[in-house]
Amino acid sequence: PLKLTESSGILYPYYFGDDPHVKLKNIKNIQSKTGDIFLCSYPKSGTHWIMEMVNMLVSGSTEHPQKFNFLDPMIICDQVLDSVPCPRIFQSHLRFNQLPASFLKRKGKIIYILRNPKDISVSLYHFVQKEGRIKYTGKWDEFFQLFVNGKVGYSSWFDHVASWEREKEKGRHPIHFVFYEDLKEDAVRELDRINKFLSLNHPNSFLQSVAECSTFTKMRKQKYLYHPFPAEVMDENYVDFLFRKGTVGDWRTLFSEEQNMQLEEVYETEMFDSKLRFSYG
Ligand code: PPS
Repeated sequence: PLKLTESSGILYPYYFGDDPHVKLKNIKNIQSKTGDIFLCSYPKSGTHWIMEMVNMLVSGSTEHPQKFNFLDPMIICDQVLDSVPCPRIFQSHLRFNQLPASFLKRKGKIIYILRNPKDISVSLYHFVQKEGRIKYTGKWDEFFQLFVNGKVGYSSWFDHVASWEREKEKGRHPIHFVFYEDLKEDAVRELDRINKFLSLNHPNSFLQSVAECSTFTKMRKQKYLYHPFPAEVMDENYVDFLFRKGTVGDWRTLFSEEQNMQLEEVYETEMFDSKLRFSYG
């Protein structure tokens, strides 16, 4: 089975420990600073890709002065967070109302990256099989049922996405949605939208360099040496599961016709009032 832990009806990966509530409370209490940015997503939506791009946009350089912090896995104390140069970029797979209270009060900017659920389920399946401490041994058919039923880390994709969409619709916070498939289609166009959302004024030529420096091949080659996960998780294979294939439509390699129909039915039910549309390659 997947190694999961639970708090208030939501499942979390093992690294949240036996009492995720404590860690979630620590995150809630983090003291936000002016200019803090959150990059939020359901796992496997393209988090690392968007982190790389936003980091370049914010630092104004395609070199790697890494500015972001992973909030979910390692609950970092304020002291460490204080040493991170502003503006700080945080990454999180949490839901909107779980973000630090002071950040929400300040109405800090949030970028939420989305990807179609079929590719996410396949990406996640490969991930849990290879990730150092999970080493999931179940078959795809079994994993697929866990995914559609929300029995995976961060629980249901449908619930995650729908809750973020509702928050965006309310219009009370600056939340910008980026679709993985749109990034694949035209990264420069999407970078320009982010550029505007973050009130940066980078010229098109810089956005083009950012797009070129953050392609799948480039990021895979760079090996992401600055990744903050503990060594036992980030064994030498980590590049293979964090930068596995990077395409749209890989779900076709595993989905049966029945599974496709089942996912679409669940989508219809769970997302009936959603205005979002995904492309599936
Ligand atoms: S995680 O562990 O939840 O943070 O994973 P996340 O980074 O969200 O998603 C991993 C998938 O994103 C693909 N990826 C990319 N695609 C295109 N371009 C770039 N630069 C890129 N970087 C990462 C990665 O390959 C995973 O998808 P799959 O389908 O498994 O290949």
